[in-house]
Amino acid sequence: MFVKCRRHRVLIHKILLFMVTVIVLMFLIRELPEREITSSKQIQNNIIDENDENDEYEIKLRTYESKIIPNLGHNGKEATLKDPEDNELGEKALKSVAMNYVLSDRIPLNRSVGDRRNEGCKKFYYNPTLTASVVIIFYNEILSAILRTIWSVTLQTPEHLLHEIVLVDDASTAEELKGFLQYYIDTRLSGHRIKLHHLNERVGLIKARLEGAKLATGDVLIFLDAHCEATIGWIEPLLARIEESRSTVLTPLIDVISASNFAYLSDADYTGFQVGGFSWPGHFTWINVQNENDRGKLTPIKSPTMAGGLFAIERKYFWEIGSYDDKMEGWGGENLEISFRIWQCGGRLETVPCSRVGHIFRDFHPYSIPGKKDTHGINTARLAHVWMDDYKRLFFMYRPKLEYSPLIGDITSRLELRKRLKCKSFKWYLDNVFPEKFIPDENVLGYGQVRNNLNMCLDDLSLHEGTTGPLGLYPCHAFSATTQYFSMTYKGKLRSENFCAEISNTLEVQLTRCLKDELKQSWIFFKNGTIYNSLFAKCLSSEGVEVPKAVRIDNCKDSDHQKWKFTYINSTVIT
Ligand SMILES: *[C@@H]1O[C@H](CO)[C@@H](O)[C@H](O)[C@H]1NC(C)=O
Ligand SMILES: *[C@@H]1O[C@H](CO)[C@@H](O)[C@H](O)[C@H]1NC(C)=O
Ligand SMILES: *[C@@H]1O[C@H](CO)[C@@H](O)[C@H](O)[C@H]1NC(C)=O
Repeated sequence: MFVKCRRHRVLIHKILLFMVTVIVLMFLIRELPEREITSSKQIQNNIIDENDENDEYEIKLRTYESKIIPNLGHNGKEATLKDPEDNELGEKALKSVAMNYVLSDRIPLNRSVGDRRNEGCKKFYYNPTLTASVVIIFYNEILSAILRTIWSVTLQTPEHLLHEIVLVDDASTAEELKGFLQYYIDTRLSGHRIKLHHLNERVGLIKARLEGAKLATGDVLIFLDAHCEATIGWIEPLLARIEESRSTVLTPLIDVISASNFAYLSDADYTGFQVGGFSWPGHFTWINVQNENDRGKLTPIKSPTMAGGLFAIERKYFWEIGSYDDKMEGWGGENLEISFRIWQCGGRLETVPCSRVGHIFRDFHPYSIPGKKDTHGINTARLAHVWMDDYKRLFFMYRPKLEYSPLIGDITSRLELRKRLKCKSFKWYLDNVFPEKFIPDENVLGYGQVRNNLNMCLDDLSLHEGTTGPLGLYPCHAFSATTQYFSMTYKGKLRSENFCAEISNTLEVQLTRCLKDELKQSWIFFKNGTIYNSLFAKCLSSEGVEVPKAVRIDNCKDSDHQKWKFTYINSTVIT
């Protein structure tokens, strides 16, 4: 009896407990947002043990996946969210990391951006046998951007051409780029050969890429930034060209993906694309395809340098040619270093117009290298000492403090490499690879500061490349300031590296793009200091010019405002 009664009580207890649990559960479910219910339902169906770490990842991942909006940004179309709150967060993201990750997280990770090739490219037949290791380095990159890069590579590369994807995490601090990313690869990308390697301490882009290259075993290394989207047919022309010429290093056409709405912006007819150049302060620049006959062509086109984020190189050749300078820190300068080295040591750089890869261009670089800030400057000083011979003077003119800086470190091994590979001079490179590159102090009538008799100087007022602005008047600096450095060429241009002096409609003088045979950009410099334009039959003058406004042209007269002196002139060629 006693026993029976006790059993009863236990049963009632159990029923009560069950009912309470049900009520609590119902209450909880009602409180959860709708999407979370679906994901927790799915989880229940798949029997998930919440104590396991992987199950934690699975829950997180399903929540994440449930927020993806099907077809958002499909075919590379501009993506937008309806909720104003999301858009506000997106704006904030753009300001903090230069990418709208709120939106990125909602776009399908396996979206297609469509076929971006020029129609003409579809007629080419490629049948490469080489395989590729795609190497992707990242540091605290937005996870959805990394995943979209990986997905695009796996979906747009024929399986027999993709040896593997090698991911190198340069000691990110973002937790989701550790176990969670590995879990994603294991569960959502299983069947694809993807290596994820975490570095223990942050080494910067250059050394991290070296680590990635060491792990790779395919025939060809293809380096991609961690915020790219490969498009249909992107890999075949790269591999085929390398198969034809193993010492040719290739860049695809790098198309623009908007960092704010993820629209794929470049159109297929984009035949007016540019190739890589450089500026004497050591920066990569875009230049027009050098040979006019090559413009609009779809076959690989010679490029003096490369931007560095995306390129393909035969793996063994990468090591033979000296990989990267492993004493370079952080990032910056390595792209010009490898460009000069490849050309000077017998290789070749080309842009492949039929290989199209989208790249999210950010307005600013969101991550800095702690401690050493100016890695670009220091790395460029290293390459200048190793590869540029006397022409390094033009870089160090901009960065005089770096020339003998101890921060540069030991360059012996790189000089030995240059010797061992019997590399050609920088003059050879300029003459043969980049003959149109303007050298401000060679084959010119005069160069340096341009000072009038009243000790005022011409000044570019720090004009930004690619824009137009006044040729200003400013007190002469006592040091060799690069804003006050101009050359007078044999062809009558008064110019700096990026700009030529041109007469505007108001007779003021502007700095703008250099044009051939443009009479408004044509000057004659006389020994007596007159700078004369024959179209207007007037002289360069500072009369009535308020500092720092533009100088002008005026009726020629004997005036201190019209007498100009260059720091250096070649008196044998001045009349
Ligand atoms: C992308 O992934 C979704 C969800 O897994 C799937 O339904 C869709 O078919 C995939 N699309 C492509 C182009 O693979
Ligand atoms: C400077 O020299 C040119 C050419 O000889 C002459 O035409 C011009 O009048 C001279 N200007 C002055 C101010 O002496
Ligand atoms: C000056 O011009 C002459 C004739 O063109 C040239 O041979 C010489 O090298 C030039 N001198 C300098 C320092 O550029």
